[in-house]
Amino acid sequence: MKTSHKIIFGNCMSMEELSDESIHLIVTSPPYFNAPFDYQGLFTSYDSYLNVLKQFSKEAFRVLQEGRIFALNIDDMLVDGIKYPIVADSIKIMQSAGFRYRDKIVWKKPDGYLRISKRSGVLLQNPYPMYFYPDNLLESIVIFQKGKFNYRSKSKEIRELSKVDKKEFQDNKWHKTLWEMTNVLPGSYLEKKYCCFSR
Ligand SMILES: C[S@@+](CC[C@H](N)C(=O)[O-])C[C@H]1O[C@@H](n2cnc3c(N)ncnc32)[C@H](O)[C@@H]1O
Repeated sequence: MKTSHKIIFGNCMSMEELSDESIHLIVTSPPYFNAPFDYQGLFTSYDSYLNVLKQFSKEAFRVLQEGRIFALNIDDMLVDGIKYPIVADSIKIMQSAGFRYRDKIVWKKPDGYLRISKRSGVLLQNPYPMYFYPDNLLESIVIFQKGKFNYRSKSKEIRELSKVDKKEFQDNKWHKTLWEMTNVLPGSYLEKKYCCFSR
């Protein structure tokens, strides 16, 4: 089957290129609030960061078709010793925009993965109370839905063409809420070639 693809370089806070109810699926990974290394100092305040999510949530709700899914890859962020509750806040924001909070997938990165610091080293060097600084290997993929999907609206033929590979799902455990996936690793060929991060 032939498909066509269009890439729009635009602002998610105002997606005038897209008409109402024109989108079947939204998958997005917004910037992590002032993440050390990747987005240091990008936002002037946490409120201004949440404001981007608020604007985007309204636009996402507008462009998505009834019943369709919006997957938000996001995580709480530790900045200068303060952990910002981004997952909880973004769920509230998406709910306010009208989305139904359906599920949360936990994405576990490989045990050896660390982008910046090895915080857990503190405890390993000082194995005493008050030295517990765990390294984060997790991200969330929060699943929202706009209303309910009408399963009867799709013909048998369309359903068959869209069928998922059951074996692949079972082998990779995609049908569970813990996904173990290797991300683009720091310093790897893929990061050097395609990523926007600058060192
Ligand atoms: C965590 S990265 C996601 C990277 C992407 N998933 C990939 O694999 O290349 C966040 C991306 O959001 C983009 N971004 C930031 N603000 C945006 C906005 N207002 N509208 C659209 N994209 C934005 C950044 O440029 C960055 O590429």
